[in-house]
Amino acid sequence: MTQDEMKKAVGQAALAYVQPNTIIGVGTGSTVNCFIDALASIKDQIKAAVSSSEASTARLKALGIPVVDLNDVTEFDIYVDGADEINPHMEMIKGGGAALTREKIVAAVAKRFICIADATKQVDVLGKFPLPVEVIPLAREYVARELRKLGGNPVYREGVITDNHCQILDVHDLQITNAKAFELVVNQIPGVVTVGLFASRGADVALIGSPEGVATITK
Ligand code: 5RP
Repeated sequence: MTQDEMKKAVGQAALAYVQPNTIIGVGTGSTVNCFIDALASIKDQIKAAVSSSEASTARLKALGIPVVDLNDVTEFDIYVDGADEINPHMEMIKGGGAALTREKIVAAVAKRFICIADATKQVDVLGKFPLPVEVIPLAREYVARELRKLGGNPVYREGVITDNHCQILDVHDLQITNAKAFELVVNQIPGVVTVGLFASRGADVALIGSPEGVATITK
């Protein structure tokens, strides 16, 4: 299986978690695009989607899947999203697609987080993938200095403006052994909107695609 085939396989496998007549939380990225395409095949059986980005909203709508505002929804069962890295504790780095803030918010409302990823995203220790941090533009250089004090090497993702009109720092050279603690520390830096560590709210189920097929990992 190629990487694209693995992404399609996990996107399809996530349909098993979709209950009829419910609202589905939808993440962002190339793997989630495969899920959205699969979801379109059963669009008449679901109520609507809650989306984590303008890009996913556009794809959902183009395929005829209604999108509702998160403010109009109090709870829903599942949030399906990809990851840039996932460790054995089901903690993730996310935000490669710059949608981390809305992803974290939508994930917080869902009862279960279903992570869909190919096996290249599995790591023992988070941090080889540069950790995305969304920042208020005015605070970018201050936050970068604070992140250097924490041992990271932040690089401004030039030319990228998030859906929330903010900027992204990608923090290189980290080895995140206590992800929950690090998430809290970075979140507390003034000017940080969201850190792309999904540790205090990690995945509940991971559907991991490999050449052998799709493996299901539960918490
Ligand atoms: C977007 C994300 C994505 O879930 C993450 O980057 C994985 O993307 P892909 O499925 O394209 O590898 O966090 O902000």
